[in-house]
Amino acid sequence: MAHLIAPSLLSADFSNLKAELDMLNQSDADWIHVDVMDGKFVPNISFGQPIIRQIRQLTTKPLDVHLMIVEPERYIQDFKNCGADLLSIHYEASIHLHRNINHIKTLGMKAGVVLNPHTNVMLLDDIIAEVDFVLLMSVNPGFGGQKFIENTFQKISKLKELILKKSGKALIEVDGGVTLQNAPSLIKHGADVLVAGNTIFSSSNPAKTISELKSLII
Ligand code: DX5
Ligand code: ZN
Repeated sequence: MAHLIAPSLLSADFSNLKAELDMLNQSDADWIHVDVMDGKFVPNISFGQPIIRQIRQLTTKPLDVHLMIVEPERYIQDFKNCGADLLSIHYEASIHLHRNINHIKTLGMKAGVVLNPHTNVMLLDDIIAEVDFVLLMSVNPGFGGQKFIENTFQKISKLKELILKKSGKALIEVDGGVTLQNAPSLIKHGADVLVAGNTIFSSSNPAKTISELKSLII
């Protein structure tokens, strides 16, 4: 499968959201990555359902909503209602991960589990066959523009093996510090979806940077 690109809106210009989404709509972006932070699970607050509802009006591309919140189970229905197509919740925030993943799927969304940089991929052994995607954090969640953690490469390889062993279909998504330099190696290790915030929105031509990320030949 050709890899997918999911620009992270966290680095977009929110005073110009319509123009940013018009740009993404016309770009090679496959999904739009939407970061929700509660100031508790992560030391930062971003935005929530009212903003996502507005984003939903401005694009038909799939909204890939990454919940960095405690007790994500309280809000699964809400995020469906405001337009999420894919919803991911942190392993570290979910006591009843199996129930939550199934709830997300029952509502017709793709269900993802997110691992912090220190969380071992083998912990997914008993759930991997049931998730649609795994989001590997390659920075500590909470902020855009951080430096990529190199240990992520071996996590991707291990996760890929686990998915094959369990005959799973989960996609591997990588989030944090993704650049044009490390993207080819991420794909080579087995990443299916690359999230990028700073690399795209700080570039002089974001749409062109998305095309460059999309057209990397490995
Ligand atoms: C970090 C977020 C990321 C962030 C990535 O907590 O989950 O999605 O926007 O930003 P960059 O690509 O700038 O590291
Ligand atoms: Zn994210």
